[in-house]
Amino acid sequence: MRAGLIACLGAGVDRVSLGGEQTGELSLITKTIPSTGERIPAIGLGTDAFQTSEHDAIQAEIKRMNELGGAVIDTAAAYGDSEALIGDALAALGIRDRMFLATKLTAGGAFGGSGSGEESFRRSLERLKAQRIDLLQVHNLSGVDSLMPMLQAWKKAGKIRYIGVTTSRVAQHGEIVEAMHKYPLDFIQVDYSIANRDAATTVFPTAFERRVAVLVNLPLARAALIGQAGQRRLPDWAASIDVSSWAQFFLKYVISHPTVTCAIPGSTKLEHLVDNQTAARGRLPDTAMRTKMEEFWDDKT
Ligand SMILES: NC(=O)c1ccc[n+]([C@@H]2O[C@H](COP(=O)([O-])OP(=O)(O)OC[C@H]3O[C@@H](n4cnc5c(N)ncnc54)[C@H](OP(=O)(O)O)[C@@H]3O)[C@@H](O)[C@H]2O)c1
Repeated sequence: MRAGLIACLGAGVDRVSLGGEQTGELSLITKTIPSTGERIPAIGLGTDAFQTSEHDAIQAEIKRMNELGGAVIDTAAAYGDSEALIGDALAALGIRDRMFLATKLTAGGAFGGSGSGEESFRRSLERLKAQRIDLLQVHNLSGVDSLMPMLQAWKKAGKIRYIGVTTSRVAQHGEIVEAMHKYPLDFIQVDYSIANRDAATTVFPTAFERRVAVLVNLPLARAALIGQAGQRRLPDWAASIDVSSWAQFFLKYVISHPTVTCAIPGSTKLEHLVDNQTAARGRLPDTAMRTKMEEFWDDKT
């Protein structure tokens, strides 16, 4: 992780000037991981749609993200060849140490062999060409009770830096809250967007209270929000929060929630990646502006 660039600067949101890497005049928005005080950029990259046929395009995308100051990459043992593609790209670019790498465990025989948590993790390390993972998450909370002692042992041994659990379904929000009470989690990953605000009332208060960092998946509702925005014009006031596209509007809404640490929009297109990384720059909406964004979005007439 780019420790030299992103120093531990206390709680809340911060903006870090990246000198030569700066995009225009706008500085990078970073957020704090409560369990350590480490800061990470507020927009990362989701990779569940990465395909082997896009090998070179993926490398170009990861290279560009690094140039733009982004660092968080979210993948999973279960995402086809995604881990291997990321591992190849990071090795070819020589930027593993600059990235914050998050993956997910899948136990239960998904890859043949014993199907154990150990086997899933060993395979992830191999495919990611990594000695250590920044964040290891239990995918969809599946097998969390039996996997948690293992994750804690790996953390103690320095093989992973942070422990997390994930969901992407409102129906599982109660379970993720339970997990925060039961285990010493550094992170949760949960679905949240301007059109899916359930987590803000059901999950985030516990994350805040338990000092758990929050990664947000489906911030664009799998692109449905882009489709719904359609030809609708962005409001003029979007410029006052340095928003110039609908994706930036949706992403700035998500990362401006005080409990959200980082959003991980999925993108396989370079222009989408650049658009999304732009949302990690400049001004963030305050509470009043967030309400205005919700009202504007809800009023589709
Ligand atoms: N249970 C879990 O743990 C879980 C479940 C779901 C997702 N996740 C993680 O969360 C990540 C994000 O979820 P997601 O990828 O399913 O959904 P998403 O981020 O809400 O949306 C991704 C979709 O939006 C499009 N898109 C991205 N940026 C855009 C832009 N600037 N303008 C227009 N369209 C844009 C992408 O298109 P292109 O691909 O064409 O660029 C893709 O179709 C996943 O990749 C994965 O890492 C975790």
